[in-house]
Amino acid sequence: MTEKKQSISPNDGAGIKENLMDKIVSLCKRRGFVYPGSEIYGGLKGTWDYGPLGAELKFNIKQEWWKTIVKNREDVVGISASILMNPKVWDASGHTAGFNDPLTECKTCHQRFRADQNDVIAEHEKWHKEKKEKVEWTEVKKFNLLVEAKIGVIEGQKETAYLRGEITQGVHVNFKNVLNSTRLKIPFGIAQIGKAFRNEITPGNFTYRSIEFEQMELQYYVKPDEKESMRQYEFWKNLRMDWYKSLGINPDNLRFREHEKNELAHYAKAAWDIEYKTPFGWRECEGIHHRGDWDLSRHQQFSGQDLSYFDEETKEKYIPWVIETSGGTDRAMLFFLIDAYSEEKDPASANASAGKRIILKLNPKLAPYKAAVFPLLANKPQLVELARKIHGDLRKDFMIAWDDRGNIGKRYYSQDEIGTPYCITVDFDSLEKGDVTVRDRDTMKQERINIPALQDYLKEKLK
Ligand code: GAP
Repeated sequence: MTEKKQSISPNDGAGIKENLMDKIVSLCKRRGFVYPGSEIYGGLKGTWDYGPLGAELKFNIKQEWWKTIVKNREDVVGISASILMNPKVWDASGHTAGFNDPLTECKTCHQRFRADQNDVIAEHEKWHKEKKEKVEWTEVKKFNLLVEAKIGVIEGQKETAYLRGEITQGVHVNFKNVLNSTRLKIPFGIAQIGKAFRNEITPGNFTYRSIEFEQMELQYYVKPDEKESMRQYEFWKNLRMDWYKSLGINPDNLRFREHEKNELAHYAKAAWDIEYKTPFGWRECEGIHHRGDWDLSRHQQFSGQDLSYFDEETKEKYIPWVIETSGGTDRAMLFFLIDAYSEEKDPASANASAGKRIILKLNPKLAPYKAAVFPLLANKPQLVELARKIHGDLRKDFMIAWDDRGNIGKRYYSQDEIGTPYCITVDFDSLEKGDVTVRDRDTMKQERINIPALQDYLKEKLK
């Protein structure tokens, strides 16, 4: 069966870009991807809770990242370090002194903004001017982004620690531990996924800028050599860009941007961002940084421990340089969602009032459910029994949804909206012939597949 459709996905430039963020925020809440953090208490600005589908999607993104960066490589290992670290770590890393954003306050309404966000500042000025109010700003001050935490049980003797501002330092302080407990030789990398926290002045744009967020990072240690380090830098920069493309992001919505000299973080010798074209403009998705010997030298200096590397072959001793790839899991998920969101005009739609169906064209590897199983009729025990058996068997290997409500059309729309790539329907022919209908989310084409072949069918599709 081919249904009449007219694609209006964000990728082909047609009309749904308008209010796209509102539509995505609403879909995320309605279908259980992302909820506002602690919502029943009025929320907490800049925090988000991931629902059943969001947790799956995020998990799949992290799994694909881990596969590419750790599992498929002999020269990279993964670790999982503490969020809380000795506060001296942040002195050594430069975060207590240099991890600042420029802050300014509107003297009229006392709202605070990042002084470098010209578009936001202009919008705020316009808002006051429309109300015929005058706008003046306080002098720009530096504002430290580290989130403080108090540790200890005795009041007055509590120690100030920080929730890590980047996951990076947990890797660098373990450089020697990893080296001594593995057989790695330079060049090699240490990867990590985990939460980081920042007192952002202006959290916003849904999960794009949050106070609590997750990072996926590789610290790749190389010889302190200009040419070799730049070769590695280019390699990792391109590999990271290809990763987003290979998971389905439209290449037209991705670009590299080099940091201006005055933008460089305190540790960076060179920095490029991978940016994504969001409905609110081009925005950073991931940073590729040449950190030189900043981290290890500083930790060596502040800890008094020898963090140098001895090269057995050349008999050289040196502090390695670091190439870093640092992406945000929450941002990646938001950008995958934006890119995958599409609406198709469909006069035959069960959703007739709107006359359109929503499809999340997520790469099947990322989709929360790989398939959904339906009995054609919920009141026919034989159909339900066979469908339940198929559902149970497939669940051993894949995340599989079950739906026996409403008619088949409604079930398809419901699965399309959450990105389920395949819908499997058990009908009366299934009882006789032992096969089922498998319907493809994107083409809406249907084919008959033998029940025992379903496992391999899905495996092949998810390769
Ligand atoms: N270790 C280097 C580092 O942390 P960064 O550019 O500050 O570099 C890396 O952050 C990535 O972390 C960003 O590209 C972004 O994806 C994510 N990220 C940073 N701040 C964030 C925030 N407030 N909310 C969500 N994601 C954030």
